[in-house]
Amino acid sequence: MKRIGMLTSGGDCQALNATMRGVVKGLHSIFDEVEIYGFLDGYKGLMYGNYRKLKPSDFSGILTMGGTILGTSRQPFKMMGVPTEDGLDKVPAMKRTYKDLKLDCLVVLGGNGSQKTANLLREEGLNVIGLPKTIDNDIWGTDMTFGFQSAVDIATETLDCIHTTAASHGRVFVVEIMGHKVGHIALHAGIAGGADVILLPEIPYDIKNVFKAIEKRNKAGKKFTILAVAEGAISKEIAELPKKERKAKLLERTQPVAYEIADQIRAKFNNDVRVTVPGHTQRGGSPDAFDRVISSRFGAKAAQLIADKDFGKLVVLRNNVVDAIPMEESAGKLKYVSPDDAIVKEAKTLGICFGD
Ligand code: F6P
Repeated sequence: MKRIGMLTSGGDCQALNATMRGVVKGLHSIFDEVEIYGFLDGYKGLMYGNYRKLKPSDFSGILTMGGTILGTSRQPFKMMGVPTEDGLDKVPAMKRTYKDLKLDCLVVLGGNGSQKTANLLREEGLNVIGLPKTIDNDIWGTDMTFGFQSAVDIATETLDCIHTTAASHGRVFVVEIMGHKVGHIALHAGIAGGADVILLPEIPYDIKNVFKAIEKRNKAGKKFTILAVAEGAISKEIAELPKKERKAKLLERTQPVAYEIADQIRAKFNNDVRVTVPGHTQRGGSPDAFDRVISSRFGAKAAQLIADKDFGKLVVLRNNVVDAIPMEESAGKLKYVSPDDAIVKEAKTLGICFGD
């Protein structure tokens, strides 16, 4: 009998259920007897021993379903040493639940912060397997996280819709795309959606360069311009400040960066500028076909790792091969867009302005 715990942690995304289904299908095809314990609302469920014992039928029909049947919550890694409001010591409590249920392994579907906690539990002696979840695609060590392509599809669809109305009215549109620290979604959706300007946290912009890009389009008789702006896009002016001042400056902000940029463009050109924010729609709905495939492959790999007792691993995709790396190799590192990435250079060749 194998006893496997599973939880989904942090911001949700489209292929969480598809990935859990993959793990469970894999486990049932490898082992004759498996018990699955699904912890509710992420690490909180593990802390408080809130779980559901799940049957194979609970995972049936969920391949296409967004969200997570287990629920999720954000439990910041940096707060793991701080007791809960009702005085529970988080890490010892999680270890206790694991031991009480006599689990053979805990499978964690989570992003960066959640994988840091998974690595901490590994260091504490638990058998853990990590699965790379996040729309942001910023987990170090994997080419792709599940959720990313579905989010890119939604952001692209928003840009597509904006295109037609921007063209009709001859307007400048600033579309704010998710990604506080990294700009993978804005970069990919920006290219897919034909944005003229893409602004990312990793490539600080000079607003004058954005103005130039708009002027160039105006002179060429193109009546509209579309900007794909990541939530964390930052101006050169602010990026160049010492860390403390930069943080203070960002805290002073009274509105999201997309609105700030729209105000600056409006002031310069005295024209019609609009902001569109697809927001959490980017995390909603069904996983796309790409995500269904990688999440199923990731699930199969996790089941195989459990069968091989090869614990302490994060499942990754590298050059289209599903593989696994030691959790500690990835924990605590972010995968950023680099201005030297081929995709950025290619986008620039296409004439897309990054404001740098
Ligand atoms: O990490 C996923 C993500 O959607 C980011 O892209 C975004 O900045 C953040 O979560 C939003 O967080 P919340 O759901 O807590 O508003």
